[in-house]
Amino acid sequence: MERCSLIAPAKINLYLEIIGDRPDGFHELAMVMQSVDLVDRIDIHFISTDTIRVRCSHPGVPSDRTNLAYRAARLMAERFPDSFANLGGVEIHIDKQIPIAAGLAGGSANAAAVLVGLNLLWKLGLTQPELQELAAELGSDIPFCISGGTALATGRGEKISPLPNMEGLHVVLGKFRNLAVSTPWAYKTFREQFSHQYISDKAEQAERHREVHAGPMVSAIYKHDGQKIGKLLYNDLEKVVLPEFPEVAKLREAMADGEVLGTMMSGSGPTVFALAESEENACQLRDAVRAKIPDEELDLWVTKFFPTGISTVDN
Ligand code: C5P
Repeated sequence: MERCSLIAPAKINLYLEIIGDRPDGFHELAMVMQSVDLVDRIDIHFISTDTIRVRCSHPGVPSDRTNLAYRAARLMAERFPDSFANLGGVEIHIDKQIPIAAGLAGGSANAAAVLVGLNLLWKLGLTQPELQELAAELGSDIPFCISGGTALATGRGEKISPLPNMEGLHVVLGKFRNLAVSTPWAYKTFREQFSHQYISDKAEQAERHREVHAGPMVSAIYKHDGQKIGKLLYNDLEKVVLPEFPEVAKLREAMADGEVLGTMMSGSGPTVFALAESEENACQLRDAVRAKIPDEELDLWVTKFFPTGISTVDN
């Protein structure tokens, strides 16, 4: 195999609770993650020089060492130097559909695809848990991006417990092109404002994880109850992002006003999503939001829940 093409889906957070601080400086989280059918396509092929090259269709994505896909390839080359030395360098091409700095894990999905792709191209035979362990070194969302579907994510977000697939729900995504929220800023601001509520005791943090795992959102997913899921959408980071970005709050309001099951910001934003029972309801909402906010910078997508993470495609 000389080349490999992969599909890397975006994610939304159906639930994001910040439980407390961690000794590593990150936050202890309990999240329910969901892949959606808005995907980047990643093509990886061997090149004759022993370098790693990244090219992206989107001009806003760096192709240097700061790119997460580049860092994923570099990590693989460091861990498997014989493969890198014997097979030579790789060029990674990213065809970008997932908006950047959006709270949709686009960069993380690209890195996840590179780990999966190089595992195949270099015939390493790493298992999914082994790939997810490597992924956690690069970023908190990357392990989920590998397995995808519907899952509970705890710890920094890197500990994944799969949940039953929730196919059949439709999603409207809205994002202003000219807005980006820095994830470190969102968590730092949350800590400044809400750390007095943090659970610091490890045993109590573990108890809170158990409560979320046995709680109403996870139970609604097991029951495939879209109405309940819509009502239970939750994201702690809204508390700091919405006051700072009134446009996002306004978009959220507009997206809650229609035949929808629920509306929420994804991750650290600024993307807002609404869940709908049918594609028709989702399209109606998209059109109504477009009419209410006639801003050229506002991008809207109608998509749906997606059952998997990274998958390969035939060329
Ligand atoms: O892991 P990732 O690179 O996606 O995290 C980006 C930033 O988000 C971290 O540098 C940190 O500031 C914040 N973060 C956090 N706790 C987490 C995940 C992310 O504080 N569990």
